[in-house]
Amino acid sequence: MSFVLTVTSHSVADTHKLARHLLRQLPGRAVLALHGDLGSGKTCFVQGLAAALGVNRPVTSPTFTLIHEYRGDRPLVHVDLYRIRDSGDALNLGLEEYFDSDGIAAIEWAERAAEIFPAHTIHLHFEALPDLHARQITIHSPLALKL
Ligand SMILES: Nc1ncnc2c1ncn2[C@@H]1O[C@H](COP(=O)(O)OP(=O)(O)OP(=O)(O)O)[C@@H](O)[C@H]1O
Ligand SMILES: [Mg+2]
Repeated sequence: MSFVLTVTSHSVADTHKLARHLLRQLPGRAVLALHGDLGSGKTCFVQGLAAALGVNRPVTSPTFTLIHEYRGDRPLVHVDLYRIRDSGDALNLGLEEYFDSDGIAAIEWAERAAEIFPAHTIHLHFEALPDLHARQITIHSPLALKL
């Protein structure tokens, strides 16, 4: 059973607010798979998570380094799979290590390695809408979440 929620964000601040709001409902170990095109708002969402966790370092896209770890109220791991080819590459990267560790793992371009994500993964799909600052965010979650 999976719960599906859809929300429209009208600004960066809206996306940050959504991140803050969802964060409060997440279990101690959460895997967030972030899907969607370039510029659809995935990193922006992770920046919202980091801000809500009190991370005081700048959160930049791990496009080249692939994995960034932050210490906030809870550990936050930010991964970007854009540059990998497939699940094999993701396994070589040690991605599985983060599936059962404390804190939040937020993984961009999750579609690159869809097969290896655990059942407790919360999937968020980001889509740009015609309005420059509007994004549709669809959440598929195995646990009930409120918007
Ligand atoms: N409602 C919104 N939510 C999120 N970002 C928005 C919104 N409106 C405008 N933006 C802008 O869209 C861009 C989103 O970029 P972001 O880096 O978050 O995308 P991404 O999905 O991580 O892309 P990539 O696949 O390249 O990593 C930012 O420049 C941000 O300022
Ligand atoms: Mg990004």
